[in-house]
Amino acid sequence: MNIYRLVYKSKPFGYDQAILNGILSDAINYNSKNNITGALICRDDIYLQLLEGPEYEVNLTFEKISNDDRHLEIELLLEEYCNKRIFPGWNMKDDPARTWFWNKEEINSGIFNKIPKIKIIEVFEKIANQIN
Ligand SMILES: Cc1cc2nc3c(=O)[nH]c(=O)nc-3n(C[C@H](O)[C@H](O)[C@H](O)COP(=O)(O)O)c2cc1C
Repeated sequence: MNIYRLVYKSKPFGYDQAILNGILSDAINYNSKNNITGALICRDDIYLQLLEGPEYEVNLTFEKISNDDRHLEIELLLEEYCNKRIFPGWNMKDDPARTWFWNKEEINSGIFNKIPKIKIIEVFEKIANQIN
């Protein structure tokens, strides 16, 4: 249990390809120096991001992300130790929310407060299985 992982959700503030590219380039650049991997699911109503790596670096990075004005309503959904990374080869994999992802109505109705945390992790595992 030596990998620390954290998932949060937020609302994009200003959402277009240029902003997204800027975020991803920041993420990949810094994460590669901090031994952090993960994925960012993006849709105009939601960011859902998984950060995994050493606890100190993950927390520090989340603190920086929390202060970023490119999104709002940041809410930590889970943090825990685990045995291995879901995205070992990706400093930050970006993924458009797929058809099977929760829809806007579900997100609006507070789906994340109703489901077990493992369901959130399963979403990221599903993405990793599709790319590996
Ligand atoms: C949705 C979102 C996801 C982000 N993901 C990361 C990330 O994974 N790693 C990271 O270092 N910065 C990420 N950032 C950018 C940080 O908020 C910040 O701009 C960047 O780390 C540079 O911070 P600094 O200039 O204070 O060093 C993200 C920002 C947003 C809005």
